Formats: sequence, C-alpha cells, structure tokens
Amino acid sequence: MSEKLRVGVIGAGRWSASAHLPGFARSPHSELVAICDLDRDLAEQRAREFNIPHVYTDYQEMLLRQDIDVVDVCTRGGVGDKNSHEPLAFATLEAGKHCLCEKPVAHDYRNTWKAHELASAKGLKTKVGLTFRYAPAMQYMRELIAEGFIGEPFIFNGYEQNSQFISATEPVTKPDLIPATEEEAITVSSLEGYGAPIIDLSLWFMDSNLKSVVGTLHNFVPYRTMMNGQKIRTNIDDGDVYIGEYEKGGFCTIQSSYVTVNSYPGLEARAYGSKGALICRLGAELEGQQLLLQSTSPDASEVAYVPVTIPDKFYPPGYQVGEPWPSMFYANLVHNFNQEIIYGGSENQGNFAQSARVQEIINAVELSFRERRWVDLPLA
Ligand SMILES: NC(=O)c1ccc[n+]([C@@H]2O[C@H](COP(=O)([O-])OP(=O)(O)OC[C@H]3O[C@@H](n4cnc5c(N)ncnc54)[C@H](O)[C@@H]3O)[C@@H](O)[C@H]2O)c1
Repeated sequence: MSEKLRVGVIGAGRWSASAHLPGFARSPHSELVAICDLDRDLAEQRAREFNIPHVYTDYQEMLLRQDIDVVDVCTRGGVGDKNSHEPLAFATLEAGKHCLCEKPVAHDYRNTWKAHELASAKGLKTKVGLTFRYAPAMQYMRELIAEGFIGEPFIFNGYEQNSQFISATEPVTKPDLIPATEEEAITVSSLEGYGAPIIDLSLWFMDSNLKSVVGTLHNFVPYRTMMNGQKIRTNIDDGDVYIGEYEKGGFCTIQSSYVTVNSYPGLEARAYGSKGALICRLGAELEGQQLLLQSTSPDASEVAYVPVTIPDKFYPPGYQVGEPWPSMFYANLVHNFNQEIIYGGSENQGNFAQSARVQEIINAVELSFRERRWVDLPLA
C-alpha cells in the first residue's frame, strides 16, 4: 500500500461535497483518485472542485481499479432503492477495498453483520457515517467517562432533534417519500436517519449493549409538499422515543425528531453517574457549534454545571475556527479512518459491527412499536 491511501468516492451529491470530499482532501493520509456519480456532469464538477483525476458513472468499473485502497459510499439509502448503500458496500468489500459507508449500511441489521463478517474475513476496515461521535466535544466526553469522571454510569439521555421538516408547505426533496394509504403504514424514518448517531453514542458512552427496549413512532406532520407542488399524505415517523435497559445496568432514553424546533444538528447527550454528570450539546447557534458541561458536586444544594474546554488534540488536522460542523466533524471521521487503516492493528471505531448493533436497536424499537411491547435483545 502506498504511503497515502488512494480513495474512490461513489456519490457526488450534497453531503459528499460538504463533508466526505473535503475530509479526504485535507487528511495528510489520503488522496482522491476517482469520483463516480450516475450524473456525469455532477461527477465532473466535483472532480474539478477537488482536483480528482478520474471520473466514472459506473461504480463497478471504478471498483476494477487496482490502485484504489478505500471506497466511500455516499449515495442515498432509501428502503428498496437499488442504489442504496447495501449493494454498493458489499461490492466494495468483494473488490477488496476498505469501505466508508453512509448510514444505514443495510436496513436489516443481519445484513450489516454479514457485511462486517465479509470485511473481517478479507482483513478490511470499515467505517460508517456516525458523524457525531467525531465531534471534538463528544470525543472528549467519551474520554472523560472512560477515565471515570462520572463514576459508575447510571443514566444516558440522548436527543437528535431539529426543525428540518417542520413545515408542511416547504417542498421536500426526498425521493423516497411514498404516499401513505392507511394509518398502519407508518414507516421508520427519523429513528433511522436521526436516531442512528445518538444510538451509537448511547452505546459507546455507557460501554454496554442494551438488553431490552420499548418505544413508539409518531407522525406529527402528515401532509408534505413535493418539489412539483403536489401535496401528499405521508405516514413516516417524524418523531420517536424509546427506553433502553443496558446489559451492565442503568438505562437510556433516546428521542429523535425532525419536526421539533431546534437548530442543526440538534444533538444533546447527557450521562449521569455515581460521581458526576456530563452534558454535550451540538448546535449551530453555539460558539464553536458545541458545548460540553460538567458537574461533580455531590451536594444537591450546590450542583452547578460549568463549561469544559475541549483540548486541541480532539480537533481535526487543518481545523479553522468557525468552520462548519459537517467539515469539522467529518474531517475527524475520515482522518481517524485513514489512521486506523495505515497503522493497522485492531482499532476500528464506528465500524460495520457498531452499525449492526445500532441497526438492531432500530429494528427492535420498530418491532416494539408494532407489537406494543418490550422487545429483548439480541433479536432472535
Ligand atoms: N452522516 C450524516 O451526518 C449525514 C448528513 C447528511 C446526509 N447523510 C447521508 O449522505 C447520503 C447522501 O446524501 P446527499 O444529501 O448527498 O444525497 P444526494 O442525492 O445529494 O447525492 C447522492 C448522489 O449519489 C448518486 N448516486 C446514487 N446512486 C449511485 C450509484 N449507484 N452510482 C453512482 N452514484 C450514485 C446520485 O446521482 C446523487 O448525485 C445519504 O445517505 C444521507 O442520508 C449523512
């Protein structure tokens, strides 16, 4: 393998341009070699913007290149979409390339495990777009918890909520919105799209899998306007909540929604333990777009939360004060993946195995909602 990892990217859309491509372009460990999109003009535009020498419209053709070490899957991941992440991730691994994949790798957690097993059998590393574990404040919060700052972890509360789709009249670009026909047809949406990163944090921070969940899905804004002006009845989960019980003791509550008044990205992670508590917020309105608060006072009459300074080591290479959070967090994610591949060993945080655990919880909460009961994990 050359000193710099050679990277091919599938998908040249918005998230690719604002997070993935800038991340690979700025890491000292990678160079962008090829870009592939079904839309050739778009692929060529990104090739010019990021100085990428080779352009493809067929990812299978790009995967034939022997000089590519890493493939990044950044297409949309809609249910039933033949261009969703799952076939692209499997093809990438079959071709012997390390794989970064947007979430979800697969809608069924069992297929995500299969992809993980394939990667392991081939000695390949994987990473999933679980963006918010790479926020410098979240990285530091995890380190503090692992060092014992909060003592024995008792409770985790997690939220990913913003107002992205609160308006029923603003046109939505989502092509996977299928008109609903009956009330029972509510489909998982926010729980998977917004829930995944905060579920990931809930497992990582508490260092435990869940043994049981109970939850509900809700559709608060039932009519939405499409780009062509047509109003359609949707029945997607645009707000959800669940309680989870950890194998190691303690519990969590996780709430996600894209129809709740809040700024981007709108995450809050709270961890309470026997000795202290930490609260991390990620929001566009905050200075540096992140805020970490701590309290260690055991005296209930004195408890106060004070801001914590985040050490420089948690910021990505080339960090600029005021840079937008997608590029800041993703630069950390990409750089960390490059390091994991180059340095070898077993380090591989936020990989397909972690994504499978997260997806299993999503699948279990959906089952809990449909059958109106607690669901035990692992799912049979
Ligand atoms: N992790 C995060 O925080 C985060 C944030 C935003 C978006 N995302 C995810 O990023 C992904 C991309 O989102 P987006 O907004 O950029 O979508 P987009 O529609 O703007 O771009 C997707 C691109 O993929 C291309 N494409 C689809 N199938 C292809 C194939 N088989 N071969 C080559 N190109 C193909 C499309 O032509 C399109 O240009 C989605 O899965 C989304 O959920 C993640």
